[in-house]
Amino acid sequence: MIKPRPDIRPNNPQFSSGPCTKPTTWSLDALNDAALGRSHRAAIGKDKLLGAIETTRNILNIPTDYKIGIVPASDTGAVEMALWSLLGARGIEMLSWESFGAGWVTDVVKQLKLDVTHHQADYGQLPDLDAVNFDNDVVFTWNGTTSGVRVPNGDFIPADRAGLTICDATSAAFAQDLAWDKLDVTTFSWQKVLGGEAAHGMLVLSPRAVERLESYTPAWPLPKIFRLTKGGKLIEGIFKGATINTPSMLAVEDYLFALEWAKAQGDKDGLIAKADANMGVLADFVSANDWIDFLAEDPATRSNTSVCLKITDPRIAALDTDAQATFAKGIAGLLEQQGVAYDIGSYRDAPAGLRIWTGSTVEQADLEALTPWLIWAFETQLTNLS
Ligand SMILES: Cc1ncc(COP(=O)(O)O)c(C=O)c1O
Repeated sequence: MIKPRPDIRPNNPQFSSGPCTKPTTWSLDALNDAALGRSHRAAIGKDKLLGAIETTRNILNIPTDYKIGIVPASDTGAVEMALWSLLGARGIEMLSWESFGAGWVTDVVKQLKLDVTHHQADYGQLPDLDAVNFDNDVVFTWNGTTSGVRVPNGDFIPADRAGLTICDATSAAFAQDLAWDKLDVTTFSWQKVLGGEAAHGMLVLSPRAVERLESYTPAWPLPKIFRLTKGGKLIEGIFKGATINTPSMLAVEDYLFALEWAKAQGDKDGLIAKADANMGVLADFVSANDWIDFLAEDPATRSNTSVCLKITDPRIAALDTDAQATFAKGIAGLLEQQGVAYDIGSYRDAPAGLRIWTGSTVEQADLEALTPWLIWAFETQLTNLS
């Protein structure tokens, strides 16, 4: 039996967790002023790069004594630079509770061949944050994009720690309050919460991180695109817009547009409020429907950007893992086919379910329009089962 379809469709069906949808006011015209065909080291290019750095600082309230650099290879580039440049000076604790955090552990253990104390939790949970020893360097992800579990705040990090904290904050920055005084290295990319392009990563360093970079040289070689120091001193230029290698000035222009848009939303606090309200639409939907639930068990850890949902209906829970995955993929596929929601299947390594982005470039009305379609797709899939 074919279920009748809801009348209203989201205006914008883009709910991907990265690249995320662009602000509604975006069009290709936003890139008209890009410094194309000019050297990024000419004043016009350097001004734009420095503008991107300082506007990021203002919007996110990053302390003036922190360094902000634009680096190659999106968030992954920024994280890898930090891991390869800083680790090895003291003990290491790594936290992981989903795919990206687990990937960083694999890198440090298998590639750098360093010993780590690994605090691990299953999808849906956080590891015991009280068990982390901050005398060591600590690597963690603020918002686990593939499980929709985030740390609630920075209170678990002591102010007087001896080690450095290295935080992958790519799906948290611009949507969650990052405790800058507790973070020594923070990374994020342009393609997430602001809906920018993926080319470049942001690397934010506290004075303590800079001190480590200037006092410690790793035992392994570093490729040019990872090198942050020269002759034992920080390469200051990287943090003033003199990038290590050639950036995409088209991507830079796009980021500058996104930053202006972010200012118009009320900076960080406006962006956080928008993501919270978006997430609230899905929280109401989950409360009203007993066949679906958050993957994140503790409400205090539920992401307001990458909302991961699991299907709890007993008829689906009784299926084997492959059949559960097929069912959930069927819902995502059906909604894509209808042009109602793109890219809302759970991440490939995560438990079966749905993942819906609720960062501030998504409009609340589009989430409100989506939820009846989720019910429609679920019921349609159920009829296909029988
Ligand atoms: C937590 C986290 N870390 C790292 C990445 C990789 O980001 P990028 O592809 O921008 O390097 C992602 C992408 O989704 C992510 O969610």
